[in-house]
Amino acid sequence: MKLLITGAAGFIGSALTHALRTGGHTVTAVDDLSVISPRPCPDGLQARDVRSLTPRDLDATDTVVHLAAHKSVPRSFEVGAFEHNTAVDRHLIHSFTASTARRLLLASSCEVYGQQTGPLAEHAPHAPRSPYAAAKVSTEHLADIYRPCLERGRQLGIVRFFNTYGPHEDADAVVPAFLDAATTGRPLTIEGDGTQARDLTHIDDAVTMLTRIINAPALLPVVNCGSGRSVTINELADAVLRATGRAGRGPINHTAARPNEISSFTADTTLFTRTYGPIEHRPLDQALSDTLQERARTWTLTGTPR
Ligand SMILES: NC(=O)c1ccc[n+]([C@@H]2O[C@H](COP(=O)([O-])OP(=O)(O)OC[C@H]3O[C@@H](n4cnc5c(N)ncnc54)[C@H](O)[C@@H]3O)[C@@H](O)[C@H]2O)c1
Repeated sequence: MKLLITGAAGFIGSALTHALRTGGHTVTAVDDLSVISPRPCPDGLQARDVRSLTPRDLDATDTVVHLAAHKSVPRSFEVGAFEHNTAVDRHLIHSFTASTARRLLLASSCEVYGQQTGPLAEHAPHAPRSPYAAAKVSTEHLADIYRPCLERGRQLGIVRFFNTYGPHEDADAVVPAFLDAATTGRPLTIEGDGTQARDLTHIDDAVTMLTRIINAPALLPVVNCGSGRSVTINELADAVLRATGRAGRGPINHTAARPNEISSFTADTTLFTRTYGPIEHRPLDQALSDTLQERARTWTLTGTPR
C-alpha cells in the first residue's frame, strides 16, 4: 500500500512510519519539524508544512494519515495555536477531496469528550474545554461535511487518540517527566491533586491499533484508540517510583491544576474490538520497566521542553 503520513517526525507518526515500512508498505513521510523532538527522523522525510501540500502531492496515494498538529493543551490557550491546527486540517481535507487519494485518516483526541463520566463511546457528545479540543471538534465537523461529497470508494475517517506513552515520547509529557525525575532523584511534580485519571495506551499498542485500522478495507467515520483502562496520576506516580526502585520514597510536589482540567478519560473500546478484534494492552508496570530500559539504551533528552 502507498501511504502519506503527516507529522511523521512526531511521537506517533515516527513509530507508525517505521511499523508500516517494516510491514512492506511505501510511506511518504512529511513533517515541518516545527516541534523539537527527541526522536530520529524517518528516512527520506520531506521537511515541509502540510499547508504546502497540493492535491497532486496526494494523488495515487492509497491512504493519507494526518497526524501533524501542535498538541499541547495548555499552550493552545495562547493565540495562534487553535488557528494553526484548524488551518492545517482544513487545508489537508480540502487537498484530499481535490486529489485522487482513496482514503484520509485524521487524528483527533479524547479531549473532544471533555468532562463526562464513564467509558467514553464514540457517540458521546462533543464537550471541548480547551482551544486544542475545539480545533479537533472543528476538524471532526469538517470531516462530517465533506464525507457525503466524496465519490464512491473514497473514505474519510477519524481516530480519537487517548494518552499514548512509551519510548521516544517528548520529555515534557507526564510519563517521561516522571521517569526523568525519578531516575535523577528529583521530586515528581503533579498538577492538581493527582486524582485525575488518564487512559494510557502504549505506543506499540497504539501502532497495532492504527495498522489494523489502515489494513481494514473500510475506515469507520470515527473510532477510539485507547486501552479502555485508566489510572490516576497519583497511581502513575506510584508505578513510576516502583519501576525505578524508589517505591514509598517520594517526594511529590503538587502544583496548581490546569485550567479546565478534566477529571477522567477512559476509552470505550467496544467499537474498535468489534470491528478490528481485541488488543492485549501492555500492563503499565511492565511497560514502564521496558520504557526505562529502552530509554537507557536510546533516549537522548533534548532538555528543551515544549
Ligand atoms: N500523543 C498523544 O497522546 C495524543 C493524544 C490525543 C491526540 N493526539 C493527536 O495525534 C496526532 C499525533 O500526535 P503525536 O503525539 O505524534 O504529536 P507530536 O507533537 O509528537 O507530532 C506532531 C508532529 O506534527 C508536526 N507538525 C506540526 N505542525 C505541522 C505542519 N503545519 N506541517 C507539518 N508538520 C507539522 C510537528 O513537527 C510534529 O513532529 C496529533 O494530531 C495529536 O493532536 C495525540
